[in-house]
Amino acid sequence: EELTVIRKFEHIEHCLKRNVQAHVSNGFEDVHFVHMSLPEIDKDEVDLSVEFLGRKFDYPIFIAGMTGGTRGSQLAGKINKTLAKAAQELNIPMGVGSQRAMIRKPETWESYYVRDVAPDVFLVGNLGAPQFAETMPDRYGVDEALKAVETIQADALAIHLNPLQESVQPEGDTQYRGVLKSLAELKAEFPYPIIAKETGAGVSMEVAIRLESIGIDAIDVGGLGGTSWSGVEYYRAKDEMGRNMALRFWDWGIKTAISVAEVRYATELPIIATGGMRDGIAMAKALAMGATFAGVALPLLRPAVKGDVDGVIKILRRYIEEIRNAMFLVGARNVEELRKVPLVATGFTREWLEVRIDLAEFLRARRRK
Ligand code: FNR
Repeated sequence: EELTVIRKFEHIEHCLKRNVQAHVSNGFEDVHFVHMSLPEIDKDEVDLSVEFLGRKFDYPIFIAGMTGGTRGSQLAGKINKTLAKAAQELNIPMGVGSQRAMIRKPETWESYYVRDVAPDVFLVGNLGAPQFAETMPDRYGVDEALKAVETIQADALAIHLNPLQESVQPEGDTQYRGVLKSLAELKAEFPYPIIAKETGAGVSMEVAIRLESIGIDAIDVGGLGGTSWSGVEYYRAKDEMGRNMALRFWDWGIKTAISVAEVRYATELPIIATGGMRDGIAMAKALAMGATFAGVALPLLRPAVKGDVDGVIKILRRYIEEIRNAMFLVGARNVEELRKVPLVATGFTREWLEVRIDLAEFLRARRRK
């Protein structure tokens, strides 16, 4: 259907031209490292590599999925290939945007295809949870999931959970009944890892426990504090009602730092900490709290639309060097050691987590069990 294709293009335009970020922080300003005056390591020996789903990566940063299938001067293809070249160069994973357009219009497959420029990249396909709902006509199953992954030679599939965005747009897919059961059935048959990802409203521990129980392989918490999809829909709204709704829910959700803590506390799943990650200190905090990657979307869009691979790499290298410096200053030689350094939580994040989890225990023993 033409609509999905046009919609994705509008989204990119709004993301580039407007402020679509949450008006609230992602919570990492409430998480603090304790400076270590005697690190007892050399900064040069800090190793940032991480393992994830059986693969080793040089840096703990994930390029979050954004696009594919859009019309307009092969824009989506250019964005994906630019991001892929950067991911290939740095040996970090990346996702593509929703492949719904590709399922509808198979001829758009090339806009998701990056293997020609990124033969080794760990690539994650992307479909939306509502398409798997019980009440969705022509609901997706294992055939569509296989098509998404295999057409672009991806290594895993992300299923995005985006009830917030769908609920504040007039044409939104607000059927979510039976999604968990469909995903359980899919997981039982599907030969590739499945990552459940939010898109800016965060994953709670209750949801994480359910996802873990059906065998989902990893969670991208996609928390509040970065790109707001309700914000994007505010600019797309056609009338007063729509604008009001989107504005009201602009800052709805679970902050990224809080979501990471909840999911790490309640499950053993690998975590990608996405949502407003804009500097390496916050990223190091996410890793220290138990995430395997910090995920980034919006900041990479601007250089990517220009085809500026060096621009993408430059931003990522800045994050990498900031993470490395933070690790040096807490005396962590690698990410595993980073998960054991002391952390202090204050403010809103602390208040929330004290209601939800045994925070003192989490701060002592956070890490994958
Ligand atoms: C996205 N995101 C997204 N997620 C998804 O699962 N499927 C998609 O198609 C898209 N499309 C998309 C387009 C654009 C332009 C942006 C900026 C983002 C969501 C993305 O993966 C991520 O979860 C959020 O954007 C939060 O990260 P940032 O932007 O705060 O770093």
